[in-house]
Amino acid sequence: MRTAVFVSGNGSNLQALIDFKKIQDPSFELVLVISNNADAYGLERAKKAGLATLAIPYKKRVNQAEFEKAAVAALKEAKVELIALAGFLKLLSDEFVAAWEGRMINIHPSLLPAYPGLHIHRRVLEDGASETGCTVIYVDNGVDTGAIIDQVSVPVLKDDTEDVLSARVLNQEHLLFPKVLNAVASGQVQLVGGKVVHSTKG
Ligand code: GRF
Repeated sequence: MRTAVFVSGNGSNLQALIDFKKIQDPSFELVLVISNNADAYGLERAKKAGLATLAIPYKKRVNQAEFEKAAVAALKEAKVELIALAGFLKLLSDEFVAAWEGRMINIHPSLLPAYPGLHIHRRVLEDGASETGCTVIYVDNGVDTGAIIDQVSVPVLKDDTEDVLSARVLNQEHLLFPKVLNAVASGQVQLVGGKVVHSTKG
């Protein structure tokens, strides 16, 4: 399936999607990488991998409509069928989300529904939680409230700092995200009536 990846920053999850090809022949084909941030390192990673890129920088506080107009045109032009949000930090409009219902996934660094939103690792450490993780969801209108496709648990250790914990969780994200995107692209996983359905075939 022709897939676009949206990034805002480092793009290590994008790199994991690019590198997945070394492990197996994926059902997704990365055809476009879009960023709201022209300086995102994720764009460099995409270029190095020979992928088409598009930077649509946010100018003032919010110009969601302009971003989406440009994104929609590029997605159409590239015949994109699936979107993977990989560290994309801007909210998308209800209209955009509805248009991509069941065809847009996001990776989040917590065991959702616990810790939606931002500063996840800091909050996990402040709470003294013994476990965290990462989750891939279908994107809906809420903040990290979409239907959960898959998730992995990661232990929180005694002396963890935000950086150490973040790196441990990211390692798992890099394994989980390509696997889930591949399952969605191959039709093994679908969103039906708001629920995640795993195909029994194969
Ligand atoms: C990841 O932790 C992802 O779950 C979250 O933002 C971070 C992005 O990291 N949404 P990267 O840009 O993929 O390295």
